[in-house]
Amino acid sequence: MIKVAASILAADFSNLKDELRKAESADFIHFDVMDNRFAPNLALSPVILEAVKKHTRLPVNVHLMVADPIEYIDMFKNADIITVHVEANDAEDALMKIKKLKKKAGIALNPETPAEKVQQFLSIADSILVMTVHPGFAGQKFIMQAAEKTKLLRPMGREIWVDGGINEQTKELVDADVLCAGEFIFSSKNPGEAIAKLKE
Ligand code: DX5
Ligand code: ZN
Repeated sequence: MIKVAASILAADFSNLKDELRKAESADFIHFDVMDNRFAPNLALSPVILEAVKKHTRLPVNVHLMVADPIEYIDMFKNADIITVHVEANDAEDALMKIKKLKKKAGIALNPETPAEKVQQFLSIADSILVMTVHPGFAGQKFIMQAAEKTKLLRPMGREIWVDGGINEQTKELVDADVLCAGEFIFSSKNPGEAIAKLKE
């Protein structure tokens, strides 16, 4: 069974409560954090995480697209799953800190980063997140070469997530357990139906 994580970065923040209702048939809320260093955008803070937690029953995955993840983990410790990038500083220590807080830990790869870079983190990470767009914004075009990595990662025996440009066509091009999608869900006239299509 394919699971869906609704990426709240693509939501209308002037109406967060209703937007979360649109995503209620998803399996997770995906929550992007950016520091304007690792990625060219500044996004989502702990205050917003509290607002999200108030209006959803779904587990929240915090995706740290930041240069120094270790400095951010305590601020987002109300999340259920915290994902850090292999390209970030001290990624291994960050993963250990997440596990110490008894949270699930994910390791993420940028589109250009080779699959084998996750190898050294596999003893700690519960899941691997493959970025199929460059970190920064919702609504970008899916990168096919990045998607091909999902097939190489499969034998590593971890839950595989993909994030970026996922819709009912591109989902066929990845081998993943969890599909993160922003625009496809939140720009849809019928978000419940969009989520169901991703799960098909
Ligand atoms: C990109 C983010 C993604 C993004 C996905 O930096 O990590 O989670 O919001 O949005 P879509 O599905 O619109 O590409
Ligand atoms: Zn993300």
